[in-house]
Amino acid sequence: MKNKSVLVTGATGYIGSHICKHFKTAGWTVIGVDRVRREHTLDYIDTFIEAGFCAESVVSYLDANMPTAVVHCAGTSLVGPSMTDPGEYYTNNVANSAFFFDFLSKHAQAPVVVFSSSAAVYGAPKVDLITENTPWNPLSPYGQSKAMIELMLVDMGRAYGLRHVSLRYFNACGADVMDAKLGQAPGATHIIARVLESIRDEKQFTLFGTDYDTVDGTCIRDYVHVDDLAIAHLQSVEYLLNGGASRALNLGSGTGYSNADVMVAVGQYVGPIDYVQGPRRPGDPDRLVASNSLAKEVLGWKPAYSDLETIIKSAWKWYNNPPESIDS
Ligand SMILES: NC(=O)c1ccc[n+]([C@@H]2O[C@H](COP(=O)([O-])OP(=O)(O)OC[C@H]3O[C@@H](n4cnc5c(N)ncnc54)[C@H](O)[C@@H]3O)[C@@H](O)[C@H]2O)c1
Repeated sequence: MKNKSVLVTGATGYIGSHICKHFKTAGWTVIGVDRVRREHTLDYIDTFIEAGFCAESVVSYLDANMPTAVVHCAGTSLVGPSMTDPGEYYTNNVANSAFFFDFLSKHAQAPVVVFSSSAAVYGAPKVDLITENTPWNPLSPYGQSKAMIELMLVDMGRAYGLRHVSLRYFNACGADVMDAKLGQAPGATHIIARVLESIRDEKQFTLFGTDYDTVDGTCIRDYVHVDDLAIAHLQSVEYLLNGGASRALNLGSGTGYSNADVMVAVGQYVGPIDYVQGPRRPGDPDRLVASNSLAKEVLGWKPAYSDLETIIKSAWKWYNNPPESIDS
């Protein structure tokens, strides 16, 4: 059988590096593209191109060696900064992706494509479970940029036949369950990262908001382990190669944990938390939880690591032994 190859953009980032590792472990040839070289991720990449994903070096590589699949993870991805610097989000996410997908679509051997979308396309809907049919209402240029890229993929699929799956991640968290060689860079904004870093660094943690409309007053989110996300990419590529139709799928655990639940679990698996209560952050909704039924049905995806114990223990292991090449 012909060796299957995948090109991953954003390959040395948090989610991209885990995706490379899962494809490599499954026997794929992995080509990684990222504008930042991070040594600790390179064991899982056969060919690394240090460049922007629209660079001439990437285009000419693809022209000569089009892979079976492309996983497009590269992007600028912080909600807050996107409000003050939207230009970066429309340039790097929307304009660059338009160029990239246009090039892939028109190539004689167009690959199948999996795109890193986000729950940010939904905004803050007032529903118990967010399904793929929940109307979009992105609240930031970051969310808008993901929505625009999804729309362009639909149009390019219709016009050029580019076959794709857009995966809408909820809160990615945890670290490499195989051997803790990969994980998230410091300064992630979700509570699990913030509380673990505050314990490690012996700093006081601030719990934002205890007056949400939830049972314990703290807000509820859906945390999905990064290895479960990575597995879904492999399954999405297989799904497309087996003739599956282009579509968008939620990737969440399907379970909502409140900030108080997270703190109790961290107390149990790691240790006591020195914390103070702060005001709620503007715009933070009470509850954001995915329905993941469609991903389960379509891909056969079954989140295996997205329980709080595995998430917290794997992340804690990583935070206590980060490699030198992780961003500071
Ligand atoms: N982390 C989450 O919870 C989450 C949730 C929803 C969606 N996403 C999306 O998943 C993708 C990966 O997120 P992550 O958490 O791994 O972020 P990350 O910042 O760790 O990784 C992104 C990588 O993309 C690279 N990159 C950015 N622009 C590039 C360009 N023009 N050319 C080449 N490389 C470029 C960066 O250097 C970085 O290594 C992003 O598109 C993000 O928007 C993440």
